Formats: sequence, C-alpha cells, structure tokens
Amino acid sequence: MTYNNILIIGGSGFIGTALATRLANQGRHVIVPTRRVKNAQTLLMVPQVEVVEADINDDKQLRKLIARSDAVINLVGILQGGLGNPYGKRFAQAHVELPQRIVKHMKAMGVGRLLHMSALGVTGSQNSPSMYLRSKTDGERVVRGSFLNWTIYRPSVVFGAGDSFLNLFAKLAKVAPFLPLAGADVKFQPVYVEDVAQGMINTLDNPNSEEKTYEMTGPKVYTLRNLVEIAASYSGNPRPIIGLPGPLAYLQALAMELVPGEPLMSRDNLNSMKLDNVGSAPLSPDLKLEPTALEPIAAEYLCPANAITPLDRFRSKAHR
Ligand SMILES: NC(=O)c1ccc[n+]([C@@H]2O[C@H](COP(=O)([O-])OP(=O)(O)OC[C@H]3O[C@@H](n4cnc5c(N)ncnc54)[C@H](OP(=O)(O)O)[C@@H]3O)[C@@H](O)[C@H]2O)c1
Repeated sequence: MTYNNILIIGGSGFIGTALATRLANQGRHVIVPTRRVKNAQTLLMVPQVEVVEADINDDKQLRKLIARSDAVINLVGILQGGLGNPYGKRFAQAHVELPQRIVKHMKAMGVGRLLHMSALGVTGSQNSPSMYLRSKTDGERVVRGSFLNWTIYRPSVVFGAGDSFLNLFAKLAKVAPFLPLAGADVKFQPVYVEDVAQGMINTLDNPNSEEKTYEMTGPKVYTLRNLVEIAASYSGNPRPIIGLPGPLAYLQALAMELVPGEPLMSRDNLNSMKLDNVGSAPLSPDLKLEPTALEPIAAEYLCPANAITPLDRFRSKAHR
C-alpha cells in the first residue's frame, strides 16, 4: 500500500523538514502541524506540504488532523523535560502521553500506519540512566502495545545543515578560547539527516517493516572529542579541548541548568551520555541506505565561507 496523505507531528523541526520535503517531492500530500507557523518557514515554500497552526495537545485538534491522514509520523521529542521520577512532567507529556493520544485517535479514526521516532540508547529498560531515555522507552512501549501497523526508528545523533549538535560546538568555538567538554570519550555514530528521512520513506510503504525497530547510524564511530574537533576546525576556529572528569562535568551541567532559558547541557543530558551511542548491528537492508560520510557534508555547512541555511538548501533543490 502507498500512503499518500501523511501527517507529520513534530514535522517542523530538523528531521521533519527533511522528511516532509522528500515526501512532498514524491507527490504525497503532507500535513505538518506546528505551534507557530514561523517554526515551519522552510516548509511553507514546499508545494504539497500543508503547514497548519495547531495545538496537538488538544484532543479535538489532534483527532481532526489524524482524520485527514492515512499514515501518521510522530517526531516530537525534547531534550529538557524537567525533573521527576522516573522522568519530568514535560518528558511524560511529549514522549509518553502524546504517543498514547496519537494511538487512541488513530484507532478511533481507523488510521492504521504509525511511524514513531525514538532514539538510539533506548534499551527497553526502565533502568536507563536518563529521564530522556526512560521516557523514550515508555513511548516505544505505548507504540508496541498499540496493535497498529507501527515502525520505530532509533537514530544516533543526527547531523546536517541546521543540526543543533555540530553547529552548537562550532558556535561555542567561535567565542571560547578552549572547550571544556563533558563526556569527551563517549562514542557516537552520527547519521545524516537526509539518510534518516530516506530510510523512513523506504520503509513507510513496506509491510515487512511493520512491528520492527530500526537503528539508524552513520558509517563511522567517533568520540565526542573527535566530533567537537571537527566542528571547531571546520568552522575555522580550532580550539584545545579539555575533557572534564565526572564531578566537574556534573558541576558544569548544574551551572548551565541555573542559567535562565533552555540549558546547553543538563545533568540529564550528561546521564544520557553514560552509554555509548553506537549501533548494535549493521544497518537493516530494509532501510535501503548507503550511509553518508560526515566530513564532506559537515565541511559544507560548517565552513563560514560555505555557510548555508536549510532555506538555501531547499532553494537549491528547487532550482530557485
Ligand atoms: N536530532 C537528533 O540528533 C536526534 C537524535 C536521536 C533522536 N532524535 C529524535 O528525533 C525526533 C525529531 O528530532 P529533531 O532534531 O527534528 O527535533 P526538533 O528540530 O527539535 O523538532 C521537534 C519538533 O517537535 C515539536 N515539538 C517539540 N516540543 C513539542 C511540544 N511540547 N508540543 C508539541 N510539539 C512539540 C516542534 O514543533 P513546533 O513547530 O510546534 O515547535 C518540532 O517540530 C525527536 O523525537 C528526537 O528525540 C533526534
């Protein structure tokens, strides 16, 4: 079956923009709800993508959106969700209660296909070291128990123009003479955002992908120190990197949490990094991906002379 009316909840973000654009380029109709239309500006330019200002935390609005689709993709995820046991209230709302409500309304509306974005590091155990991972675990459990035609994706850290990982370290390197780094030796296997989008599309219509969970990883494993070196040097600001031992890393995260606004790093983020973020097996052939190397892509968007925005990327794809 080919799904032609696709609702992407959380589709205005980094991964959602790549995914919605690719789905739309295939001629599918894509609905992207957002809390504020300005969050989805790039997508406003894509024909076939319908950006809708909506509150997905309102059951009536969510149900109406689901009723217009034949497949639902849930990409909503947050990194800071407050404190609590087993997780803070905002983690519960975004990672567990939202999937519960999506499942409920899909069943009520007779919509059967659900693609759900989780994260590498989710082990299925409530003993996971962070609230982020514990709440993502419970979100997966909701989807698995839904009796819908579900597929779950677990990417490692995702890179690409507009990412909030390499770009963050590039920004820090611009202003800091050296980079004090928590979790410097933790391993990651970064995956390209366009590969994540294409892997999801390659499995969307394939019934063999139903009730399966796919890890999504890139071709190479790096330590966090390697990645920060790449971000700093490619952006023209190579910096000494000073690995912080555990107690200092904890204090750094605590201090960042005390600064008003969204912290750059929280103690929970630090806890997530107690586990390496690498794949447990080669990529599934179902994804039909030849994973893209990080260096040439990162050089393209981190190098100040080549600095491009996601908007530029879209314009160039659209030959504008
Ligand atoms: N990026 C990575 O490296 C990475 C790695 C592993 C897993 N993931 C997972 O992949 C998914 C997408 O990641 P991303 O990097 O694309 O995220 P993103 O750029 O931060 O986008 C998140 C999206 O979720 C929506 N959203 C966030 N909080 C919400 C809330 N409380 N209520 C309603 N909508 C909310 C936002 O919509 P608005 O337009 O309304 O703001 C936005 O469209 C997440 O589940 C994330 O955990 C990402």
